[in-house]
Amino acid sequence: MPALTAWAIRLALLYLLVGFTFGGLLLFHKGVPLRPALWSLLPAHIEFLLIGWTAQLILAMAFWILPRFRGGSRGPAWLAWLAFAALNLGVWLVALAGSFGLSASLTLAGRLAQALAALLFGVYAWRRVKPSGA
Ligand code: HEM
Repeated sequence: MPALTAWAIRLALLYLLVGFTFGGLLLFHKGVPLRPALWSLLPAHIEFLLIGWTAQLILAMAFWILPRFRGGSRGPAWLAWLAFAALNLGVWLVALAGSFGLSASLTLAGRLAQALAALLFGVYAWRRVKPSGA
């Protein structure tokens, strides 16, 4: 497994763990009220599980399994590393802004970072979307 995939899956699993923990706390709180402030975890719960876990796992696997170029190369991996960095920056900006009630411009910056991650990964992967052996 390439290093980028290994690191991205490790990060995705950490997001899964924290996201599920926040979800479990919220679910428990709905049954046995603990602290209303727990609801501030909801934005982070959603961001960690939808983007940090689901989207990151998909991109990590795509980097690993998409057809490679002749000689086994995966092409300019630095572009994919940049995409993962932008994705995780976006997750944290949106989660922190949502959970701590920070300015909407921080949420916007986070979404723009995620959009950039999608663009960078799309540009990187475009040439690898080809019939095997081609
Ligand atoms: C990959 C898995 C998951 C994803 C993508 C996810 C996503 C979401 C989303 C999008 C919402 C907001 C729903 C809304 O506003 O209507 C939400 C709410 C919530 N989630 Fe999750 N969730 C996941 C797993 C879990 C798990 C495992 C738990 C509990 C153990 C959990 C507990 C909750 C609770 C308690 C709420 C608040 C519901 C409410 O507004 O009353 N979630 N989740």
